[in-house]
Amino acid sequence: MFLSFLQRAAWALLSVSSIADALNPQVNLGYATYEGTSLSNGVKQFLPMRYAAPPLKENRFRRAVAPLEETGVVMAKVAKESVWQHGPVCYGVDQILLPSPLLPSPPVTMSEGCLYIDVYTPQSTETDSCATSDANGLPVMIWIQGGAFVEQFNPNYNGTGIVEASGGNAIVVTFNYRVGTYGFLASGELLQGRNLNLGLHDQRAAMSWVQSHISQFGGDPDRVTLFGTSIGGGSVSLQTLAYGGNHTEAEGSDNARWNAGIAASVYIPSFYSVQDYELQYSQLLNATNCTDLACLRSLESTKSKQRTSGHRRFQDNQIFHCFLMAL
Ligand SMILES: *[C@@H]1O[C@H](CO)[C@@H](O)[C@H](O)[C@H]1NC(C)=O
Ligand SMILES: *[C@@H]1O[C@H](CO)[C@@H](O)[C@H](O)[C@H]1NC(C)=O
Ligand SMILES: *[C@@H]1O[C@H](CO)[C@@H](O)[C@H](O)[C@H]1NC(C)=O
Ligand SMILES: *[C@@H]1O[C@H](CO)[C@@H](O)[C@H](O)[C@H]1NC(C)=O
Repeated sequence: MFLSFLQRAAWALLSVSSIADALNPQVNLGYATYEGTSLSNGVKQFLPMRYAAPPLKENRFRRAVAPLEETGVVMAKVAKESVWQHGPVCYGVDQILLPSPLLPSPPVTMSEGCLYIDVYTPQSTETDSCATSDANGLPVMIWIQGGAFVEQFNPNYNGTGIVEASGGNAIVVTFNYRVGTYGFLASGELLQGRNLNLGLHDQRAAMSWVQSHISQFGGDPDRVTLFGTSIGGGSVSLQTLAYGGNHTEAEGSDNARWNAGIAASVYIPSFYSVQDYELQYSQLLNATNCTDLACLRSLESTKSKQRTSGHRRFQDNQIFHCFLMAL
């Protein structure tokens, strides 16, 4: 009698904790343990999580580096839907986040430390009606948002709809990447450090993150599809063409791999040489009373932001389009 009471109590406790697990799903990514949210529609969302260290100060104008270790359980969720639920968005040129139906109230939070990733995954990742016998988890869709490389246009993309439409047979990943001055500044000095096209390298860092971590969410790293519209679609094309299409040429810790791409409403800006950007770079130095890159890296975030938003003026109102590929 007493034992059976204990047994029942233990069972009740177990049930409570498994309900708690279902309601507060956690993933241990090695560098951090994140807790997400189970939505009532059978989708779990984890947002925002870091996929790289904040690109601040010494890391500014450099390729993204591995995320910092975080201790304890990090909340990849916010308590209220009335606040911005995604990680802070990368600064754009003149902060032209257009008033658009895509951009909601609550107002968008912005920061230079903006390299965040969101994951939407079905409650159960057991079934996959499209899977072949050697499939190792669910197929993954990585959304690359648009914004012409001068801003982030869809930082609030909600992957829930695709997870639902797939009948719980897909995982959706979205992320922010650097744009404008922070993502596409160019000069001989930056070229020397191999720090051109940082926004595109951020995209590769996010894809590498998916390779390393998506299995923790039930995803199959061998079935990854990139998709996007506008410069997001352009990015799908550019990533496919990068390194002459031979991705074993990509260096360092770059493990950006994918199997398919959907490039919709493709936009690709003009290509220029590094030399064409030296004038713009020297104007930036002038505007900050800097004489080199080390000085630009030493500036406080708020100052560098003011400078960046003013940057457009220096270009006679041309949109700041520092975009160079594989130089
Ligand atoms: C995504 O959409 C679902 C269903 O409408 C909603 O419950 C969830 O809060 C949304 N997530 C975000 C981050 O807006
Ligand atoms: C791709 O690059 C690797 C490393 O440089 C090289 O070994 C390989 O032959 C290349 N593949 C093709 C198809 O060119
Ligand atoms: C910066 O630009 C201003 C305005 O064009 C000019 O007067 C000044 O000499 C420049 N300073 C430097 C250090 O080039
Ligand atoms: C740059 O230096 C000039 C002259 O010392 C000063 O007037 C100006 O405020 C400085 N600009 C910035 C952005 O610090």
